Amino acid sequence: MKFIKLYQMLLLGLCFSGVANATPDIAAGKERAGMCFNCHGAEGNSKNSNFPILAGQKPAYLANQLRAFRDGKRENGMMQNMAKNLSDQEINDLAAYFAAQKNNSAGGDSELAAKGKSKAPMCFGCHGDKAKGMGVTPRLAGQHPAYLQRQLLAFKDGTRKNGPMSGIAKMLSEQEIKSVTEYMGSLK
Ligand code: HEC
Ligand code: HEC
Repeated sequence: MKFIKLYQMLLLGLCFSGVANATPDIAAGKERAGMCFNCHGAEGNSKNSNFPILAGQKPAYLANQLRAFRDGKRENGMMQNMAKNLSDQEINDLAAYFAAQKNNSAGGDSELAAKGKSKAPMCFGCHGDKAKGMGVTPRLAGQHPAYLQRQLLAFKDGTRKNGPMSGIAKMLSEQEIKSVTEYMGSLK
């Protein structure tokens, strides 16, 4: 009896958490991921700062961004094109696959990183300890600093929309954005 109750509660939980919870299939995600490697690098460890590293990113964040590109809420021509025909199931499979890959840190300029370190504690509250990510809040550790800079500038000027991040980006000068992102990139 007790067991049945627990089961019902679990089911109810799944219903309320919505489409994001179609059970992910990592093997199916891996098959589909081949076309992503062209830009995002093998296993999602991009070596080119035009393309963010996906390896080791939080699955809930990856799925959220793919849906945002698909639904036109986050704008980028290349990614809107890639995501437009993905089903929720395919998105969850891809997200689970990339999240399970090991992140090879991009690294950051050590002099600038040392300057940016003092700003980082205010980021860890949401982005997790050492910026390893938390739920729908992305991992920043080891991400390409130049990519992170572009995103912060996009939050600042409103081309990328997110309430909390716009507020935070507006509080940072361009110099602070440069140094804190070099610090994040240098984390493992
Ligand atoms: C033609 C190149 C290209 C291909 C192929 C591509 N992407 Fe992207 N992707 C990009 C670019 C460029 C960005 C950065 C967009 C921006 O600056 O907002 C990006 C961003 C992303 C992001 C957001 C990451 C973050 O940290 O916010 C995700 C998730 C993503 N891509 C997933 C995928 C997946 C999954 C595939 C394969 C189905 C894929 N991409 C294929 C170019 C590509
Ligand atoms: C109040 C919580 C909160 C705080 C504090 C915060 N962030 Fe964020 N950040 C978020 C959320 C949530 C997202 C995901 C936004 C989305 O879904 O588009 C995000 C996204 C980002 C991104 C985009 C990453 C990517 O892969 O595209 C960058 C860069 C970023 N944050 C940098 C920072 C930095 C640097 C700090 C500290 C100075 C910081 N954030 C503090 C909540 C926060």
